[in-house]
Amino acid sequence: MVVSPHVNAPAQIQQDAALSPAQTLWDLTGNDMAAVDALILERMQSSVGLIPDLAEHLVGAGGKRLRPLLTISAAQLCAYDGTAHHKLAAAVEFIHSATLLHDDVVDESALRRGKKPANLIWGNSASILVGDFLFARAFNLMVETNSLEALGILSNASSVIAEGEVQQLAALRNLAMTEADYMRVIEAKTAALFAAATEVAPVIAERPTTERTALREYGLKLGLAFQLVDDALDYGGMASALGKSVGDDFREGKMTLPVIRALKNASDEDRGFWRRVIVEHDQQGVDLERAVSLLRKSGALESTMELAKQYSQDAAEALDVFPASPLRDTLKELAGFVVARIS
Ligand code: IPE
Ligand code: IPE
Ligand code: MG
Ligand code: MG
Repeated sequence: MVVSPHVNAPAQIQQDAALSPAQTLWDLTGNDMAAVDALILERMQSSVGLIPDLAEHLVGAGGKRLRPLLTISAAQLCAYDGTAHHKLAAAVEFIHSATLLHDDVVDESALRRGKKPANLIWGNSASILVGDFLFARAFNLMVETNSLEALGILSNASSVIAEGEVQQLAALRNLAMTEADYMRVIEAKTAALFAAATEVAPVIAERPTTERTALREYGLKLGLAFQLVDDALDYGGMASALGKSVGDDFREGKMTLPVIRALKNASDEDRGFWRRVIVEHDQQGVDLERAVSLLRKSGALESTMELAKQYSQDAAEALDVFPASPLRDTLKELAGFVVARIS
């Protein structure tokens, strides 16, 4: 497979109406995203053929490219006029891609970006090792920017992501997991990379601390909202739009906010159900349907979406330190629309 750079926004952005601000950002940032995409394709090459084969399977399937789009947009918002943002954006997408390769092994997923996950084609070992390669390539790119500060921010995010994944693994099938535990996990596994993706931009553009803090806050809150929506979509979404299976969290016995909230006021009978399917991991064909209906009945899906909306509002407000501009306003809009996404 020969993958060519995305000149236009990826199909997922074009098809999901809620992501139209992402399309606008893609347009506002001119050729930057095409340059980032070209860099991604160039740097995932290797003389070890299995590496580009496996990496192209994932990267060629698209994905929304949201995180690099945030780095590029934030750099433009900070009036950055160098080229290091391309390398940092590519590094951010490599870190994300590496975590997806590892994640599909850990989660035993059946679908990623509308395709068979790489580990189901090449095996778990190959996926893990190519994930390591992409992580390492991200670090090569960061070093090339000569920004020790940006390297510090992204390397810190990388270790925090791993901590979040391990914390989540340790909490699997544990009905006692609290909302605070859950928030710590999603901040680490997802929001930390969004925050780093936006924070590196003011750093390389040498902007004042207020802007750095604001952009970090924007990324962090956007990332929290993004994962909350993802966890609601795992019960309420459609596999065809998501490009990944629904019900994965349920099958794994993962404690996400919808389940934590549904458990709070559950009857003894319903609590017994959750205990059987999550703790004992005894699941029948109809159990996912029953879980979805319990989540709906208890208002847990709705309240998860409510919380996501609050974080998305916080994200948008963080950008108020910047003067109004089409770019700033589209970034604010993106925060609102991420909670309406279906893909
Ligand atoms: C998937 O992220 C992992 C989560 C944090 C939920 P995305 O939904 O951004 O994945 P792609 O890159 O668009 O496939
Ligand atoms: C994605 O997490 C991986 C990371 C954020 C590190 P999930 O397992 O929750 O996401 P999906 O649903 O597989 O994309
Ligand atoms: Mg996972
Ligand atoms: Mg997963």
